[in-house]
Amino acid sequence: MCGIVGVAGGIGERLGSALKKCLERLEYRGYDSAGVAVTGAGGIIVRKGRGKIHEVEARFNFTALDGLSGIGHTRWATHGKPSDENAHPHVDCTGEVAVAHNGIIANYRELKEQLTARGHRFISDTDTEVIAHLFEDYVKAGLPALVALRETIRRLKGSYAIALLYSREPDRVFFARNVSPLVVGVGEGFNFLASDIPAFLGYTNRVITLHDGEYGYITPSSVYVEKNGEPVNVEGRVRVVNWSPEAASREGYPHFMLKEIHEQPKALRETWAGLDMGYVSKLSRIIAEARRVFITASGTSYHAGLVLDHLLAGLAGLDTHVFNSSEYRKYLRLVREGDLLVAVSQSGETIDTLMAARVFRERGARVLAVSNVVDSTIPRESDYQLYTSAGPEISVAATKTFTAQLMILTALAANAALYNGGIGKETYSLIMSELEQAPDLVNATMINVEARVRHIADKVKVKASAYYLSRGIGLPIAMEGALKMKEVAYVHAEAYPAGESKHGPIALVDQGFPVIFTVTDDDYLDPLEGNAMEMAARGAYTIGILPSKHYARLGKVFTEVIQTPDASPYLLTIIQSIPLQLLAYYTAVLRGYDPDKPRNLAKTVTVE
Ligand code: AGP
Repeated sequence: MCGIVGVAGGIGERLGSALKKCLERLEYRGYDSAGVAVTGAGGIIVRKGRGKIHEVEARFNFTALDGLSGIGHTRWATHGKPSDENAHPHVDCTGEVAVAHNGIIANYRELKEQLTARGHRFISDTDTEVIAHLFEDYVKAGLPALVALRETIRRLKGSYAIALLYSREPDRVFFARNVSPLVVGVGEGFNFLASDIPAFLGYTNRVITLHDGEYGYITPSSVYVEKNGEPVNVEGRVRVVNWSPEAASREGYPHFMLKEIHEQPKALRETWAGLDMGYVSKLSRIIAEARRVFITASGTSYHAGLVLDHLLAGLAGLDTHVFNSSEYRKYLRLVREGDLLVAVSQSGETIDTLMAARVFRERGARVLAVSNVVDSTIPRESDYQLYTSAGPEISVAATKTFTAQLMILTALAANAALYNGGIGKETYSLIMSELEQAPDLVNATMINVEARVRHIADKVKVKASAYYLSRGIGLPIAMEGALKMKEVAYVHAEAYPAGESKHGPIALVDQGFPVIFTVTDDDYLDPLEGNAMEMAARGAYTIGILPSKHYARLGKVFTEVIQTPDASPYLLTIIQSIPLQLLAYYTAVLRGYDPDKPRNLAKTVTVE
């Protein structure tokens, strides 16, 4: 939540303009207010206000600003409502210090009281403003700026990624990190700071990921890092990311969400190509031999975790426990050595998943992280790492990273089941060869279903609610479909095991109520057909997402049918995600919403 950026040095364009471009690539992290600050010979200039980046730019023309270094912020409000005053960057009493911050300063009230008693004047309701005033106090007391920063963060409790300008040292941007993500983009004659890599991909692809407790500064020609007063050598931590700058732009698509839905064949191909099968097989042995397997994640990644749970229990017969990562405290007394936690997070930064991973490790469990972002916090703090190669995902709504997660989690489960004898070689080979074909089948699905889904979205767009029903491994896919619909189209959508629908939810169903069925497992055809008939009997507008092989039998059961290619349930999870993503996307657009900026949401949730 919140994106911060910093730049030191000349980049061949005005700083204000570069900051705007960087912020636009972080807008998925929050978009209720925005601002920039630059510093040069004339001191610090701040331009900020409520609204999306382009709205704030239209009011304040901050792209015209230039200087030696600058910082920027796009906000997802936590402390203090979205307003001009609460927009970042925040300044101290003298106007010599400006701060952009992502995270939450848990002890800000106490600090604010102390600082107010010492005569500091606060303008905003934010927790962030205390940082500027603390720093001000320390430099006024005569401490060098870097020491003042160290003393400032020593006083802070909570999470933060900070970018700070100090007008007396105008060629540098100071930074500090604890829990909230922060990376350095290493350039030639300039350096960047950002919450996430896509921010500066148009300028450099050389990256240093900063670790908790690290602080320092960037200048046009150097990156200086310290921890606990000791210099940290980060030269060996520079890595080159192979994400292209285009990957972080819309490339002609009206929205990132649609672009990323369409990128899935490529994302799956690259994820498959990037899998080291020897390593997958080693991990699957670790899974199969674990005392118990816990799986944790949030949101979309949680749905991928549910698929893993289904496969590990169903194929490999393992003792699995899956939970939303925000509920990790329930397991504190249960976890012990010998247990394994699979933590799924596309960003690798979700705070709840990170907390769950930390407490499991503290209690002796090993942790396997599954992420799309190399070197992000959760994988870095885990024992084992498995990466999807979906490329940067900008849209708040996760799409391509979800199907890429399904691909590697299915491969992992199939290997574990082969290892412990849950499945034989034949089933294993079928699953693996289907996964290899996933990019082509997803491509075919996209081509075949898009127009039909758009037509259905045109009907769904006027509805207030929808149900998503399924049985077996199709259920997490239905849950993901409902989440997508809620997130971007603001249609109240709930998923249930189809059998549960009769235990309450069916009470809401009346004429035209949309009920979407995902049909994956052959074993469940009879009861699913029954459930669809029950809904139809109450006038529901039923939509069946079916593999072609079931069309002859079920084609007439539903009001609308979306036919997908035939495949086993293990691949239908991936294939059936496509029409559900498209349905949410087109419903949002037809209802007049911007699916890339769903209200109240930020892509990465870095506060509990
Ligand atoms: C998905 O569309 C959402 N943006 C959200 O539920 C997301 O999946 C969740 O916050 C988890 O994020 P992560 O995968 O980065 O941990």
